[in-house]
Amino acid sequence: MAERKFNVAVVGATGAVGNQMIRCLEEADFPVKSIAFLASARSVGRKLRFKGDVVAVQELKEDSFKGMDIALFSAGGGTSERFAPHAAKEGCVVVDNSSAWRMDPDVPLVVPEVNPGAVAGYTKKGIIANPNCSTIQMVVALNPIHRQWGLKRVVVSTYQAVSGTGKKAIDELLDQSRAMLNFLDYESRVYPHRIAFNCLPHIDVFLENGYTKEEMKMVNETRKILEDDAIAVTATTVRVPVFYGHSESVNVETRRPASAREVRALLEESPGIKVMDDPANNVYPLATDAAGQDLTLVGRIRDDASVANGINLWIVADNIRKGAATNTVQIARVLADEYL
Ligand code: A2P
Repeated sequence: MAERKFNVAVVGATGAVGNQMIRCLEEADFPVKSIAFLASARSVGRKLRFKGDVVAVQELKEDSFKGMDIALFSAGGGTSERFAPHAAKEGCVVVDNSSAWRMDPDVPLVVPEVNPGAVAGYTKKGIIANPNCSTIQMVVALNPIHRQWGLKRVVVSTYQAVSGTGKKAIDELLDQSRAMLNFLDYESRVYPHRIAFNCLPHIDVFLENGYTKEEMKMVNETRKILEDDAIAVTATTVRVPVFYGHSESVNVETRRPASAREVRALLEESPGIKVMDDPANNVYPLATDAAGQDLTLVGRIRDDASVANGINLWIVADNIRKGAATNTVQIARVLADEYL
């Protein structure tokens, strides 16, 4: 039987993640019958390439989804909130990279290495959510540990690349770095403080509880994906002057005793992970190792000498690929292969 092909829309096609989604569809040889690239009115007239064809960008409208089967969204929360229901009404399943729908109980939140079966829940609203970039790489590494020994508590600090904020932030880091190295004045438009040669402990807005929204995304999404509200999670999320690749220092306490040696052996055979852990030879994951590929890199795996059943890990992934575009296309693949 011939493989079924799909009419696919990419919403936010001109953005940093949207552009990578297009590349991931090509690389995955996704069964595409037709492709539509949608963005704001500002981008109408722009042309993008898909598998050797030139495709004109169209303005996103409420009736853009007639005849579409799958829409990959990465155009911000407001756009997803407004337009995803219109797509769903047309029978077009949305895989949404924004935070708009992630905690909706009727919307599955999926990392294919962790909970691919949750995709089945797409029928309730016609929407599947892609988790936050920092959450995705963390749960890829923590899920095997949770299944084997149970996670009691997770303490995470992130070192997040500016590409997670979009194209404007990439330009801001470039412009500020260039200005500073030439002793010129610089401007901060995207971030509240200078990001060049600095670290900002502030991602997304501050909430009443003193955490940022990004930090609470990591707390709530981790529990939803691992399907265990008893896991205690606390996060500090930090923007650093790196272009691509989020790094995370993660400390876990397990419910049953686990050693660093056992954790390393388990992660070495777990899906989507590459263990890089040979400190004697300066081998540990770097953002520069992660950028441009799809695996979650794990190293610095060691016993936490300060607490019973504690393990420290250093987890790194490409935030635009596995943290966003790749994971979205992987979800679409599960949907296409098993449910449509
Ligand atoms: P546009 O390029 O036309 O502004 P990034 O995160 O890299 O800044 O990209 C955001 C993406 O979301 C872009 O493709 C942008 O399109 C798109 N976008 C932003 N706001 C809207 C909107 N109101 N309607 C449609 N697309 C939007």
